[in-house]
This record gives sequence, structure tokens and C-alpha cells, in this order.
Amino acid sequence: MPRRRPRVLPVLALALYLAALLSFAALPSFAALPSLAALPSPAALPSPAAPSVPLEDSAAIENEARALLGRLTLDEEIELLGGVDSMYTHAAPSIGLPRLKMSDASVGVRNWGPSTSYAAGVALAATWDRDYARQLGESLGGDARARGVNFLLGPGVNIARSPVAGRNFEYLSEDPFLNAALVVPYIEGVQSRGVVATVKHFALNNEEFDRHNVSADADERTMREIYLPAFEAAVREAHVDAVMNSYNLVNGAHATENRFLNLDILKGEWRFAGILMSDWDATYDTVAAANHGLDLEMPSPRFLNAQALLPAIEKGLVPRAVIDDKVLRLLRVAVRYGFLHAAPAQAQTAAAQTQATADPTPESTDSRDSTYSVADRAVALRGALESLTLLKNDGALLPLDSTRIKTIAVLGPNAYPAVTGGGGSAYTPPFDAVSTLTGIANSVGSATRVLYDPGLPSMRDVFRGTRWLEPVTMATYEGTAFGGRPHVTTVSTIDNGPQNGLAQPDPTPRSIRYHARYRAELAGRYWVLATASAGDGDRLTLSVDGRPLAVPLHAEGEVPPAWPITLAAGQTIDIVAEYLPRFAGVRCGFGVAFEPALVSETARRMAAAADVAVVAVGFTKETEGEGADRTFALPWGQDALIQAVAAANARTVVTLTGGVGTDTRPWLERVPALIELYYPGQEGGTALAEILFGRHAPEGKLPVTFDRSWEDSASHAFYYPSGGAVGPEAHPHVRYDDALMVGYRYWTSAGKHPLFPFGFGLSYTRFKFSDLKVPASASSRTPIEVSVAVQNTGGVAAAEVAQLYVSNPSAPMPRPERELKGFARVRLEPGETQRVVFELDRRSFSYWDEKTHAWTVAPGRFVIRVGDSSEDTPVSADLRVID
Ligand code: BGC
Repeated sequence: MPRRRPRVLPVLALALYLAALLSFAALPSFAALPSLAALPSPAALPSPAAPSVPLEDSAAIENEARALLGRLTLDEEIELLGGVDSMYTHAAPSIGLPRLKMSDASVGVRNWGPSTSYAAGVALAATWDRDYARQLGESLGGDARARGVNFLLGPGVNIARSPVAGRNFEYLSEDPFLNAALVVPYIEGVQSRGVVATVKHFALNNEEFDRHNVSADADERTMREIYLPAFEAAVREAHVDAVMNSYNLVNGAHATENRFLNLDILKGEWRFAGILMSDWDATYDTVAAANHGLDLEMPSPRFLNAQALLPAIEKGLVPRAVIDDKVLRLLRVAVRYGFLHAAPAQAQTAAAQTQATADPTPESTDSRDSTYSVADRAVALRGALESLTLLKNDGALLPLDSTRIKTIAVLGPNAYPAVTGGGGSAYTPPFDAVSTLTGIANSVGSATRVLYDPGLPSMRDVFRGTRWLEPVTMATYEGTAFGGRPHVTTVSTIDNGPQNGLAQPDPTPRSIRYHARYRAELAGRYWVLATASAGDGDRLTLSVDGRPLAVPLHAEGEVPPAWPITLAAGQTIDIVAEYLPRFAGVRCGFGVAFEPALVSETARRMAAAADVAVVAVGFTKETEGEGADRTFALPWGQDALIQAVAAANARTVVTLTGGVGTDTRPWLERVPALIELYYPGQEGGTALAEILFGRHAPEGKLPVTFDRSWEDSASHAFYYPSGGAVGPEAHPHVRYDDALMVGYRYWTSAGKHPLFPFGFGLSYTRFKFSDLKVPASASSRTPIEVSVAVQNTGGVAAAEVAQLYVSNPSAPMPRPERELKGFARVRLEPGETQRVVFELDRRSFSYWDEKTHAWTVAPGRFVIRVGDSSEDTPVSADLRVID
């Protein structure tokens, strides 16, 4: 398949944008700041790379790859099918192929020391900005090259089906069109820097619950219309050179051995020419994985190894040609990207090649690649500025007038240090991160007092501060079954954190049972908090008065558990905690806290004394991340904190971090302003200050419906497996009976309204949509042009996202009420009008026909709607599609 050259970045638009961005540096309160002063002038920013690599497919490349293959023995070929040292492919010294280095990616280049940390995937989607996606891809590609990384393990494009899914923040949005539109320039950007992008997790990885074992079961139409289009665009339009299979099974077959996904669709229909790798330890069977499309088992060959494959080849269970095909894919990529040489895209001596095969890939020597990139800080700032989404702004509290604010209180656990990204393999340690507190402090003049308090204790403060009614008994049993005579001691608190030094394997298995008694002095809501090194395999279960505390439904790595309980004044409770340590020592803790007493008096006083209070709450890498789903409710104590601050100060702004979807019911009516930060990366604090003080109008738009409650989500009833056991030996089935009704498709079809709809985000100005031009009738066989005028009718320069939704009321079968099929971002001066043009292709009108297994257009009536959210589409017109 011929490869398209990457599209050329609209350099002028980018330069204008950055000029506007950098003009902030001219503002008096900014000029002195080292952080922003360090940002480069637009001229100094790297120009988009003239791609020397990857080369396009050609007969010469095919010949070279085949010649290299011909020089490998079967044993050498098989070695190339498995990873090594966690983040490398295997080398083939006899042909000068070094081992190839990988890195995680969803927030930045993660694995090789600190790196620029960008706004996370969900925030990229909130920008609705294809140009930014391209620029982000280029920056990530450059960061990767500078670290000698050959494969970037991103982007993740799974659909945000449910608000509690632990990895939503890494992924993009709830909409296949938006995901596809952004992933293409992102991948083109990465690959234009000579780094292979890896689109993941193929496919239907939409929850973390028991993620290695659950089978995501969906009908073909649901897969084609919702869950696959972003992968399809990555392969067919962006020509991504690597795909990563997911952990979960799909319709009963592990993704790594799923014939339908890997052979029929990916490599068959979509003609994917690159490398299909497994997720880490997601391979389960030698023959099935080998024959059903897997090319590379990561991180090590537990199944695709010589011991297992040679006899299978001998017996004819795995054709030799299948092995050759896998190796050829790797070799083609290696040739096209210049990986056969030690330094990317550079000629090497034989000696250097030998050295390169033995050791990690050397860092790039390309002058554009720096490990600390000043230019990339501007990109990180751009991502945060464009994504932050203003959800509520009663009485136009924002923007704040910095000249009139004498005192600002910055409160909350997420105010400092910076919350840049969620947890797990995506977390990227930044060089320097600007917290909400620092961003605000940098931004106000020296005449403004900045007051700061986290507002809540840490979990270990609670453990240490719990006054038990009597000393806690700690019974330690030999073995893991709480059997035999225990060794019993008493302790006054249980405050061992998971961070008690390096874990040493436990030479003698133990089980420990604690018995604690607690008396509630006052009536009200209490929190039972607990933590253990669950990620390392320790287990901790608690019961209160003999009733097990509902363990959040996480079979793997649990979020730090927190249970609210209501107690009467003077009520005494018995807590039994059973702990199974996997390592030497004790690394668990638990305690009880009275909710009204959690909020610090200092925070209340500061809120009352300030002209305005900013409460920074939400999730962090500890409470939201890979390997566990998260709660819909905010982490413990945060609702109470917001309520207390709002009671003390009517001018309260709440900022939320997280992958969207949070219970705001306990406090939303009481606060005038709410800003969704997502995970804004290292420049989040600077971007927030820009928006709070009106130097930049907010322009992010929700890429995910913001539900009132978890129960309101269309996926709620279909999220957990319907029956069946959970765990390694079982494959519980999660039936996607919500089918096409994901996010706004559900809400608009049901005629109901979520808290904040998909596509929604406030600005400091107003926009007007008018003069929608749609042909009365047209054939969908050639692109149909539709246009609309967008005018900034307010007084502030700002950006708007025009969103085009298509409805098909005459469809012969049920279709979602509306579907996003176009969007365009426009930046307009006050009073300025711009005409936005959309091109609708045949897919814009198609549904997947289960009978014919094909995309199909049902000629008839369509309605085109344009507006600035899935619910607010002020202009619409009918279109008769004749074929
Ligand atoms: C994650 C992948 C990641 C890999 C390597 C796995 O646990 O699911 O997304 O790329 O680890 O870190």
C-alpha cells in the first residue's frame, strides 16, 4: 500500500497562535518570571521536520527487508518475536539490527527519566484541535528521539464508555469521530520524527475491572460504529506502524489471539502493514497468538519462544511463512525508519552497529532533539490552555480582576504540588511542574496576598490521629490462613504506609488480624480509611461490626479504599482488619475520621479572609490510574472541603482534576464557578492562572458527557460482568448492551439532559452561529460541502469549536439521534465573523449493516445541525441524500 506523505502543518496558523500565546510574556506581571521568560520566541521554535524517515514503502525496501530475512536462521527469527528487558525488542546482531527501545506515552515520554509532561489524552480531546494534535505528536516524537526511543507506546484511543474507567484520562473521548480526527495528525506528528507510534489498546479496553480476564462482548455494528473507527483511522489514514493488543478478551477470545480483530479486520480489511504487539503479559497461547496475528510478545517471550514454537512449526501447527511474515514486518519498519543504524537516520560503521546491538539505543544526535526542550514547554502550555474547560461561571465571577484582588486563598489537596497526570504506565515525571498554587502566585502582583492550605489531612495523618477506644490487638499467624496460635501484641495506631522503604520478599508467609474499637463522640458521617501496598500484592480487607466493608469492585490493584459510615453519638464500632502481606514488614494502615472535622480550621479562616477562594480538588495519580477503576465520588473529604470553603466565601472557584465524570451533587449549587482541568500536564498551573485572570479566554470543550451520577450513565447497567466468576481462571463477560448508546448518543436519543453535555464549555465571550448552507439534496458518493458563519459577538478574543451533528430520521433501523461528523476550531476577535466549511464524506451518513457486513447509506432524510455542544445546535437544515 503506498504511504501518504504526512500533511504539512499550517505553519502560519501555528506561528500566529504562538505569537498570541507568547504575547502574555509581555505583560508586566509575567515578564519577570523565569518560567515564561524561558519560553522561546516563535522563530526559535522548531519548524516541522522535513521527514527523512520513515521512508515510504517501496520495492527497494521490500527487497532489503527480504534480503535481511534471508540471512536469519529460524532461531534468530523466533528471538525477534519477543521483547527483552521490559522495554526493548530483541536484537539480531548478525544483520546489524539493534534492540529497539520503547517508552510509554499517554502524557509524555515516560520511561527514561524526567520528560516534558503534556496535558493527558482526555485533555487533548478537549482541545478539539487537529493542529495541536499534530504539534503534540511532533513534540513527543522529538522527546522520544532525544532519548533514543524507537517505539512510542501511544496514543491510546479507547472510547470513554463509563466515567469510572481508570484509564479514561489516557484515552481521548467518548466519540469515535473526534478520536479518529485527532489521532491521525498525532500519529503523523510522532512518525514524522522517525519514531514509531503504537496505537493501543486494540480493542474494547473500556474498563480496568479485572482487565486481564474480562471479555468485552459487543455486536459487530457496535464495534464498527463506536469502538473501532479510531483504530481504523490510525491504520488507514495515519499509517501507524505499530498496534498494541489489549489485555481483555473480545467476544470470548483474548485480543492477542483474536482472529476477527487481528486477521480479518486489522491485517485483512485495513491492510495493516506494521507490527502488532501484545500488551505487557497479555499473551496466553503460543499457537493461537502466532496464527491469529500477534507479531511481538511483550515484555518477554513466554509463549512466542523457540521452545514452544519450534515443535509447533515442526508439527505443522504454525506455518513457517507465518513466522517469516512477523519478522518481515519488523524488518520493514527497521529499514524504513533507519533503525538498522545505531543513531536514527544516520549511517553507522560496522563497529558502531555491533555496539548498538549490545546496548541501549544511543540518544539521537539530531540537533532538533533535546532531552530538556524549552520549545516543548510552550507546547505543553498550549495543550493546557486549549483544554481547560469552564463548566460554570455564575454572575460572571470569572475572569478575576487581579488589580482588585488583595487576598486570594488557594486551598485543597490538589493545589500543591502539581497534579500533572493520572497513575500507572502513563505517568510521566516532569522536569518542573507548575502547580495551581505556583501558577496563581506567579501570576498575581506582589501586592496580592496568596494564602495556601491543603484543607484536608493526608491519609497517614488520619491513621496517626485516630484515637482508638483501647489499644488495637494485632494477632500475627504463621501461614496465610489465619490458622493456629497467633502471636498477639497491641499497638496504638496502625499507620504503616506503603512507603516503608524497599520491599523485601517475606521469607515466612504470615497473616495478620487487627481488632480495633472506635467510639463516635458526635453523630454524623465518618470515613473509614485504609491503605495497603495492594499494587504489590498485599491484601487488606476490613469489616465493621462483622459486616465486610463493600470492597470497591476491583480485582486488580485497588484505589485507596475509603468508606463513609454514619454513626450515632456515643456509638462504638468494632473494626476487624485482615492483612496478608506479601513482603517482609507491615505496610498497611487504617483509621477513622469524623468528616466535619476533616476540613482544617486554617482553610476555613483563609477562605473567609480572602477576596476569592480557589479550591483545587479531584483525582491524582494515586486515586485514578491504570489497573483499577475509580470512584465517581470525589476522594474522601473533598466534598466537605468544598462545602466548607463555599460557606465561608461566596466567591469560590472549584477546579477539578480527573478523567471527567465526578459527582458534583454535594456542592455544585453552592459554588459559582467550576473549571475542569483534566490532567493538564506540567504547565497546568500557568494555564489556569491565565484563564482565571482573563489573559486567555477558556476554550476547552468536554470530550465526554459529564453525568450527574454514575447510575445515570448508559453503561452503568452493563459495566460489570453479568454473572460468572472473576479472576485468573475465569472469563466473566461484560455485555455491551448499551450498544451504540454511548455518552451523548444516549442522552440525545433519550431526550434527556446530563449535567454538562458532550461538547460543552463556556467562554468569556459569546458566539453566534448563522447562515448554515446545506444543499437540499445530494449524493453521498462525492463529498458534500456544508458551511456556517460563526461570529464572536462578545467583547473578548477567543476560540470556538463549531460542531456538526448528523441525524438520519428516515433510517430504516434505529440510529442514535445525532452523531458528530465534523468540527472546526476558529479563533475570532470581538465582532469578527468567519465562515467554517465542512466536507461530509459517505461515512458521515453511513451505518454498519449487520446483514451485509458493510457500511451502508440509507437514502432519505438527514438533518445537519451545527452548534457548540451536542445539545446546543442553534442552526439546522434538512438534506436529502439520494444515494
Ligand atoms: C499497559 C500499556 C503499557 C505497557 C508498558 C501495560 O501495563 O497496559 O499501556 O504500554 O504496560 O508499560
